[in-house]
Amino acid sequence: MENQTGSIVKFLNISKVFPGVKALDEVSFEIKKGEVHALLGENGAGKSTLLNILHGVNNEYEGIVEIHGKVVAYKNANEAILDGISKVHQEVSLIPDLTVGQNITLGCEPKKGLFIDYNKLHKEANKILKRMNCNFKSEDIARTLSTGEMQMIAIAKGLYHNAQLISFDEPTAALSNQEVNTLFSIINDLKRNGITILYVSHRLDEVFQICDRATVLRDGKHVDTFNINDVTREQLIKKMVGRDVSAYAVRKKKYPISNESVLKVENLSVNGVFESINFHLRKGEILGFAGLVGSKRTDVVRTIFGATRKTTGTIKINEKIVDIKSPEQAVKLGIGLIPEDRKTQGFIKYFDNANNVGLTKMEKFMKFGLLNHKSKTKNCNYYAEEINLRPKDPFYMTNNLSGGNQQKVVIAKWLSSDTDILILDEPTKGVDVGAKAEIYRVLEELIGMGKSIIVVSSELPEVLGLSDRIIVMREGRQVKEFINNNLTEEDILQYAMGVGNDVENARI
Ligand SMILES: Nc1ncnc2c1ncn2[C@@H]1O[C@H](COP(=O)(O)OP(=O)(O)OP(=O)(O)O)[C@@H](O)[C@H]1O
Ligand SMILES: [Mg+2]
Repeated sequence: MENQTGSIVKFLNISKVFPGVKALDEVSFEIKKGEVHALLGENGAGKSTLLNILHGVNNEYEGIVEIHGKVVAYKNANEAILDGISKVHQEVSLIPDLTVGQNITLGCEPKKGLFIDYNKLHKEANKILKRMNCNFKSEDIARTLSTGEMQMIAIAKGLYHNAQLISFDEPTAALSNQEVNTLFSIINDLKRNGITILYVSHRLDEVFQICDRATVLRDGKHVDTFNINDVTREQLIKKMVGRDVSAYAVRKKKYPISNESVLKVENLSVNGVFESINFHLRKGEILGFAGLVGSKRTDVVRTIFGATRKTTGTIKINEKIVDIKSPEQAVKLGIGLIPEDRKTQGFIKYFDNANNVGLTKMEKFMKFGLLNHKSKTKNCNYYAEEINLRPKDPFYMTNNLSGGNQQKVVIAKWLSSDTDILILDEPTKGVDVGAKAEIYRVLEELIGMGKSIIVVSSELPEVLGLSDRIIVMREGRQVKEFINNNLTEEDILQYAMGVGNDVENARI
């Protein structure tokens, strides 16, 4: 039945309750056929929950979902895919040992009699990959592909099933700049072909770049649906957060930096990964690490933290040589790392917020060999307030929090610990604008207290806004060290992308 309203999806009074949380509260809006529709809101606003309902991942809810004017209630994601409703979510679930083509056609392979017709399978899959300008083949094994390429497979799978709508949940969080560009050109192409896109992201620049309309959710409620060109960035943020927030990283105060170097890294390398890293970090300083995704910044900080074994090099803490063999040892020496991959490295799945936030200072909460639950809970309450955790409940299981709030718990864990040197790897990835501002403020407070911070970030405004000095890496090499004095994004990109070359590079 052709739909007169031009809408492909209609949400009518959708409500969803999890124990203790109303994740969605009578949400109603429409998505028009062929548009790129952004779904926006703070961490925990209910975006992923709504997508899960649309895609049949979550099928216990109140309200009505209509697709093409027909009420649907998919029992699982496969049923939705067969109905042309596809998703490309962050945890792309592929079977790594199968070929790309097998993954694309899984469960619906072309058959010749009883058997899979592999010729046809690869022919059809390759046709789709070609249409998307992918430079890998249906015959390739899925395991060998990059994160970006794996996402392409998920899109291809949707196209194989004649997707009418494809939803993306923070698709660019793990992509390199190049891969983001590729993704955007594919999204534009899908749109030209009449396919509707539902797009969840915390990166507002992206939203302005590729979306036509947007819906904002706040605390599970529908706030507004509007044309993206009708709002400014500030108005958009205000709709999401309900107040004015500066989304930009800025240092409000100038703190004196002492000449005392708390960390010195000399000639550090890991064979085949990165070489000759040399820098020092001073007390009270924020040192930024810039570079493109894949420039090995994460490997450098993981090596300092003892999570990866170094091949050569010396690390000095307060001018004393140390040999850090494990993260436990790093923590004892006063180093903390907030990892990029917080979901698997950052918190314990079976712990509630109070235990996760208190993880690095459990000993502090012990009195006469007994755990003092009260001080543990108090500690959690304090930091939950600082970073605006949602819900603030210390007994909430961290694993049940929204993605961004899980990150806040990991950050709170290190903020509440006694580390002198804090390393943050992509600290605001997946974190909403309001929480970003709060994290920036807390970092500034920490250096005000004489702590020292290393920030690895792919968001240039963030490194530029926070750092006193910036080290630029490219392909496992340190190519430039800047003092952050009126630096611009171009200054950094020049080195990150390989146009600029400096003496430091000549040493390698
Ligand atoms: N399985 C679950 N059990 C309990 N509570 C849940 C569960 N999944 C989500 N919630 C809660 O529902 C609310 C909405 O979460 P949701 O994941 O939809 O937020 P989101 O908008 O996607 O946030 P983010 O930007 O952080 O990804 C949150 O308060 C979250 O804690
Ligand atoms: Mg989410």
